[in-house]
Amino acid sequence: MLLAVEGLKMYYGVSNETVKAVDGVSFSLGEAESLGIVGESGCGKSSLAMALLKILPSNARIVDGRILLEGVDIVSLPEERLRRGIRWKKISMVFQGSMSALNPVIKVGEQIAEAIIIHENGVTKKEALERAANLLEIVGLDRSTLKRYPFELSGGQRQRAVIAMALALNPKVLIADEPTTALDVIVQAQILKLLRELKERLRLSIVFISHDVSVISEVSDRVAIMYAGKFVESGNAEAVFLKPSHPYTQALISAVPSIKEPRKTFKYIVGQPPSLINPPPGCRFHPRCPYVMDVCRSEEPPIIEVEKGHFAACHLLGG
Ligand SMILES: Nc1ncnc2c1ncn2[C@@H]1O[C@H](COP(=O)(O)OP(=O)(O)O)[C@@H](O)[C@H]1O
Ligand SMILES: [Mg+2]
Repeated sequence: MLLAVEGLKMYYGVSNETVKAVDGVSFSLGEAESLGIVGESGCGKSSLAMALLKILPSNARIVDGRILLEGVDIVSLPEERLRRGIRWKKISMVFQGSMSALNPVIKVGEQIAEAIIIHENGVTKKEALERAANLLEIVGLDRSTLKRYPFELSGGQRQRAVIAMALALNPKVLIADEPTTALDVIVQAQILKLLRELKERLRLSIVFISHDVSVISEVSDRVAIMYAGKFVESGNAEAVFLKPSHPYTQALISAVPSIKEPRKTFKYIVGQPPSLINPPPGCRFHPRCPYVMDVCRSEEPPIIEVEKGHFAACHLLGG
């Protein structure tokens, strides 16, 4: 397995309290495979993404679990080794909102070349610019984009440039955190198409993160549904979307009238996502669940394999 995450926990300290943003997440990802992670805002998706690259805010720490990349545990690896051989080189990321993080007054080519020169020894400026031009072509931009400033580009072009930058050191795994959220629907579809193409062409493995089920369904071989710091359901995209087993997944999907025709109407799931400082005991979804039983209030549901490779954590499923 290219990437295997086991029981990952990442918490933030806020004054005397602990925000359990990622609280025991496990998944694996093969070569040229895409995993879509979907869940409401605040459920811990970006925290998980940052934990996977160990790019943590100063008040965050990984408190448990392993992140095995080609069998090597990143969690216990010294920062120096991560920087030298792994971060950006094997596993890379398009940060949420990074489209607007490009420096507006530095040419696109310079910014990509800079990323290459900083992280790879002995690359000349000329070589780095040549590689930047190739990367721009790979993401569907003209080579002339090299000499343009980010403010001259459209939103979609800027997002392509950011993706090119994330691919600059030939990573095997790309984490894309809400890469289409700021874009209109048509441009969004083009970026999703690009990501599908990159997966095939570069045999890239992609962890695609979004709060939008319809977007996730467009790009994912497999999906994981995240709720309050945990995965409540995961499996083949088709299996999960056609036969959602967890009441939260069912609610998320019913909020999209048709997976193919996104965002016509939106039915809200009743209630608010829970606090990650004091999450509800038992099943974290129980205060909002239409099928809540006594056991749900006290016991955490076990993860059940509802059919081969399709897992859900819900007391309704027995086990
Ligand atoms: N730097 C931080 N310090 C403390 N809490 C944070 C920090 N960043 C995010 N959080 C909290 O962690 C939880 C998960 O946030 P996040 O990972 O951004 O969720 P998502 O990406 O799913 O919207 C939220 O409750 C959020 O308020
Ligand atoms: Mg986020």
